[in-house]
Amino acid sequence: MNRGIRRREFLRDGALAAGAVACGAHLSKAAAGTASADSRIDILLDEPLGAISPNIYGHFTEHLGGVIYDGLWVGENSPVANLQGLRKRLVEEMRKIKAPVVRYPGGCFADSYNWRDGVGPVDKRPRRTNFWNDAETKTAPENHKYEPNRFGTNEFIRFCRLTGAQPYLAANLRSLPAEEFYHWVEYCNSPAGSTSLAEMRAAAGSPEPFNVRFWGVGNESWGCGGNFTPQEYAVEFRRFTTWLPHYGQDLSLVASGPYSEETSWTRGFFEELLRKGADQLRSVYGLSLHHYAWNLSRGRTTDWDKGKGSALEFDPVDWYELLREGQRVETMIEDHWRAMGEFDEQHRVKLIVDEWGPWYRPGSEATPGNLLEQIPTLRDAVFSAMTLDVFNRHPEKVAMANCAQLINCLNSLYLAHEDKFCVTPVGHVFAMYAAHQGGQSLRTAFSAPQVHYDRDGKPASFWGLQGSASLVGKELQLTAVNPHVSEARECSVAVRGGRIVSGSATTLTSSDIHAHNTFAEPAALEPQTKKLDVSGAELTVVLPAASVSRLTLALG
Ligand code: AHR
Repeated sequence: MNRGIRRREFLRDGALAAGAVACGAHLSKAAAGTASADSRIDILLDEPLGAISPNIYGHFTEHLGGVIYDGLWVGENSPVANLQGLRKRLVEEMRKIKAPVVRYPGGCFADSYNWRDGVGPVDKRPRRTNFWNDAETKTAPENHKYEPNRFGTNEFIRFCRLTGAQPYLAANLRSLPAEEFYHWVEYCNSPAGSTSLAEMRAAAGSPEPFNVRFWGVGNESWGCGGNFTPQEYAVEFRRFTTWLPHYGQDLSLVASGPYSEETSWTRGFFEELLRKGADQLRSVYGLSLHHYAWNLSRGRTTDWDKGKGSALEFDPVDWYELLREGQRVETMIEDHWRAMGEFDEQHRVKLIVDEWGPWYRPGSEATPGNLLEQIPTLRDAVFSAMTLDVFNRHPEKVAMANCAQLINCLNSLYLAHEDKFCVTPVGHVFAMYAAHQGGQSLRTAFSAPQVHYDRDGKPASFWGLQGSASLVGKELQLTAVNPHVSEARECSVAVRGGRIVSGSATTLTSSDIHAHNTFAEPAALEPQTKKLDVSGAELTVVLPAASVSRLTLALG
């Protein structure tokens, strides 16, 4: 729904329009910015879209660079505060954001990994060449290049139990037989004392089954996970999932899906899978979708290395280009969903966006030598908020999503090295958005002037305001992104069919679009919360330039 935009003279010299409530700490800069316009958000209480799966706020941890060793795992004898070897501060932060699910052990690593290497007595576990070995630099720590297997299934499950998240394990389909997948399920889920693997689990301190529900069947099987065609993969998927032992635990199996727009993979997979009959659908809980925003070349190249931009050095055009790349995920969700519907009219199978985020070129590592580490800025916070809003708007389609990755890699929520730790702007967004988990998503209409910018001599545009809304009981959450790098939006917010009795606004923004947190300045960018003085069905707020905002409104 698109409503006309009522233009009226905007705030000048930092003065607020009557009744407008400042959402951000940096309002004066934003309000004093160049020309702006009125905007509007209508939340339609009687148009529910479906329950937001908490699992769309999920995470991803891979044996890659500094994610596991130095990120999650510091070791029991470390001077760094730890809970049985797991970084204590990380566990505490994940509890705060209600982390629902964590994917492990890869990524590409998963299809080279034998789960048996990571279980049993620690001193007997083998050292193996890590999948990422060739990409590592000479100065990278040894345990990034040669996997010591000090951290394996038991340690990961312990991490999940401590953080309150559910485990989501990715099985090796490329380099292990299906039997090993069955045995990993048996190790995790067979009842206490029932099998030799259950006894092995007990010997490691866990007699009771782990009851792992989510299992990925391979990863990126079109690439590092086997270089299959979708048809070949569908045959493997059938073989790997036929007669998988359940042990009373419903298993939710995730098929390796397409990269970005490739609907030919989606169609090819389902076509081949269903060659054996429609009931094959029963073995698929979800189809994974990966999308990274990496090409900031403004259309000049599609080369994976040449197309990438810098995480810290960028101009406003790079800012908008990154958001445009990320926004593509919404069309992908719609297109793959439509393609899936051609084979699965009831839409039993959901989308699992189990890798997403921006991917920059090397050079901004918080800890030099950490492969694929980059320092997230305000731009990545806006990107992440925009993406989470997309997932919130499609609750019937997206059942899980996993930000790539949790710590020390790509779109990290946290950065850590030895005793140093900081929450990134992305981590702050996850904290702000946690209130949406399990809420009823509501249809919400956003109207705002488009952003216009010059894309190397050619005019380009991007939406001016987007977000999502959800309701739990009588508490309404509205999250919104203002992507404009220099213009604030004065925005009228209407709750159709409801009455607001009180509220608060939390905003993440800065006068510097490059703002970020570091070990030296861990609180350089943090959200600010203010109480709102509101009552009635409507309020007016100012959404600062380059900001993420959350309004929490109590309804009467
Ligand atoms: O997240 C980094 C890598 O990106 C993963 O291992 C792989 O699945 C993807 O290509």
